[in-house]
Amino acid sequence: MKRNDPCWCGSGLKWKKCHYPKIGTQQQTPLAENYLKKYGIIIKSASHMEGIRRACKLAAMILRKTCEMAQAGVTTNALNDYAHRLHVEAGAIPAPLGYGEPPFPKSICTSLNDVICHGIPDDIPLKDGDILNIDVTSILDGYYGDCSYMVAIGKVDPDKKLVMEVSQECLTRAIGILKPGLMIYEIGNAIESYAVSRGCSVVNQFVGHGTGIEFHEPPQVPHHYNHLKIPLVPGMTFTIEPMINAGVRSGYIDPKNQWTAHTNDGKPSAQYEHTVLITEEGYEVLTI
Ligand code: MF3
Ligand code: CO
Ligand code: CO
Repeated sequence: MKRNDPCWCGSGLKWKKCHYPKIGTQQQTPLAENYLKKYGIIIKSASHMEGIRRACKLAAMILRKTCEMAQAGVTTNALNDYAHRLHVEAGAIPAPLGYGEPPFPKSICTSLNDVICHGIPDDIPLKDGDILNIDVTSILDGYYGDCSYMVAIGKVDPDKKLVMEVSQECLTRAIGILKPGLMIYEIGNAIESYAVSRGCSVVNQFVGHGTGIEFHEPPQVPHHYNHLKIPLVPGMTFTIEPMINAGVRSGYIDPKNQWTAHTNDGKPSAQYEHTVLITEEGYEVLTI
């Protein structure tokens, strides 16, 4: 949802004139003002955090239930419809639906095997040996929660097992070092050094991102080696979502749908994603 879109509450006003969460100028700390000016980063207030926490909990619940449905014979369209229904029942909106240009056509992303990300649900049944990433982003009361998880269908080959294991471990390791003062580039260092040590490559065409008040906010959070020297501070909310490939890191976007990214060599890719909050003490994983 963009700031100028009609508000989700149905008032007919623009979102920014209605339920758009107030960034607040009055009680804004000098640090928050500085981060917004310098980097475009929105440091969240206590009430933002409450809203984002709820959206993240919902996204995590919908993701878990949708993953539980994924098995051989089930189509990704069936998973999409189920996840869509769970959003509606919770009074929430699936953020991917209609997002971007061309508008994303479905409510979740389902990325199979050699698909890096942004797979579009379809009518092909899952089959033994597939690995599937399901990515759920929920909007609840105007706040966003973004997370994804992998499911292995039946028995999968060693390359697929490897990328699943390595991408999950990369996310765990990256989250484990989070604390105020950590530089953004240290996240990519932790991820790429581990992935390379396991013989895998790290996608650099897609990155993690600030989130919470909009789907994709600054800063970008690269998973590869980089030099982004932005210190983390309490109140930042962002995703980490490493995409790990068994072969080459590079990919291409399907020219037909202009969304789905495949690995260039057709080898498997895997991804896990959480939304996190930086706190005084360290971090909180919100999408659990
Ligand atoms: N959820 C994805 C992310 O983590 C974005 C999907 S964009 C969509 O950033 F339009 F494909 F949904
Ligand atoms: Co994301
Ligand atoms: Co996502």
